[in-house]
Amino acid sequence: MKALTVVGARPQFVKAYPVSRHLRRDHEEVLVHTGQHYDAELSDVFFEELGIPEPDHHLGVGSGPHGEQTAEMMAGIEDRLAEEGPDLVLCYGDTNSTLAAGIVASKTDVPLAHVEAGLRSDDREMPEEVNRVLTDHAADCLLAPSDAAAENLRAEGLTDGVFVTGDVMSDAVSLVRDRAATRARTLADLGVEPGEYVLATVHRAHNTDDPGRLADIVAALAAVDDEVVFPAHPRTTDALREYGLYEEAADALTLLDPLGYVDFVGLVADARAVATDSGGVQKEAFFLDTPCVTLRETTEWTETVDAGWNVLVGSDPDRIAAALDGSFDLPDDKPRPYGDGDAASAVTAALESFTS
Ligand code: UD1
Ligand code: UDP
Repeated sequence: MKALTVVGARPQFVKAYPVSRHLRRDHEEVLVHTGQHYDAELSDVFFEELGIPEPDHHLGVGSGPHGEQTAEMMAGIEDRLAEEGPDLVLCYGDTNSTLAAGIVASKTDVPLAHVEAGLRSDDREMPEEVNRVLTDHAADCLLAPSDAAAENLRAEGLTDGVFVTGDVMSDAVSLVRDRAATRARTLADLGVEPGEYVLATVHRAHNTDDPGRLADIVAALAAVDDEVVFPAHPRTTDALREYGLYEEAADALTLLDPLGYVDFVGLVADARAVATDSGGVQKEAFFLDTPCVTLRETTEWTETVDAGWNVLVGSDPDRIAAALDGSFDLPDDKPRPYGDGDAASAVTAALESFTS
């Protein structure tokens, strides 16, 4: 089997990492990087730290409005598909790179496999939800991380080619967990103690592109008693500067550049709590037994909320404060809705069965 994998943004490097390792044991993989993320700390660091093979093709698309960015990716992917002639296209998650791969594969009649199929937040205002729905409906092989995701697909009439594989980010966490314990950015460097800090990330357009909402989040995090470690996505740093919030954030929080994956996973594991609007970070907190306070009104990772390890608080300062200052009432039992950390092998097996 020859798979052409499309990645482009930070979470996709993390998701492709365990799958590529597994897939390449018996199959050929051609890696296409769209260039959606291009700063070293959002891209190169993941390839270097995780030993992800160099991309075979780099499209160098960069940032831009949704239509322009997606269209440029589509043109580049179409050329590479014609050149490489793969048996299938493999894409991950819910970014514009995912959608570009999905549209081109389906229009050029190359079978499309989508990892993280079936996730739904039911919030169509988020570009990611649109990307998820459209990619799933273009896909031939739907790799769902959980039974609930497969059920979402069924509810939309998608029943052929659905495989429940578990979640590949669980594999990624398992692979770096030990290394994360001896990470480069130590807690001592950051001046914090295990279990006595909150780790925060914010990058969703809904939160960064609204000055009032971002100001509310910064004020709520600034009011937390514990130190708040905040590795900021460049989009968020730009917004903080533009809205005149940067000084307040830098004074009150431990504001950092984005961290590499190993450092970041180590910080999730040792945090008292995580506050985030990220999809991936909600799950990593769940895998690493760290309570999560999600700075959104909805989530596609609904099982983490149902399990009692994640609470949705939006950007309301009182709700954020109440969630972060309270002690967490965590349940005794923890379900494992995303499998046991062997999703990469299940994804490979599903692709084999799909193409045979
Ligand atoms: C994208 C995804 C989002 C995902 C996130 C992961 C879409 C619509 N959004 O959001 O689903 O959660 O990646 O981090 O696909 N920028 C840089 N350097 C970079 C990349 C971006 O400075 O290397 C800045 C640019 O100002 C750019 C902005 O960040 O305009 C947004 O980048 P973009 O890739 O469009 O969206 P993200 O917010 O990163
Ligand atoms: N991440 C990282 N360094 C950081 C912040 C996040 O390595 O400073 C990792 C994190 O561990 C997770 C992924 O980036 O695996 C999540 O990406 P992001 O939050 O940007 O996107 P989302 O998951 O919301 O699409």
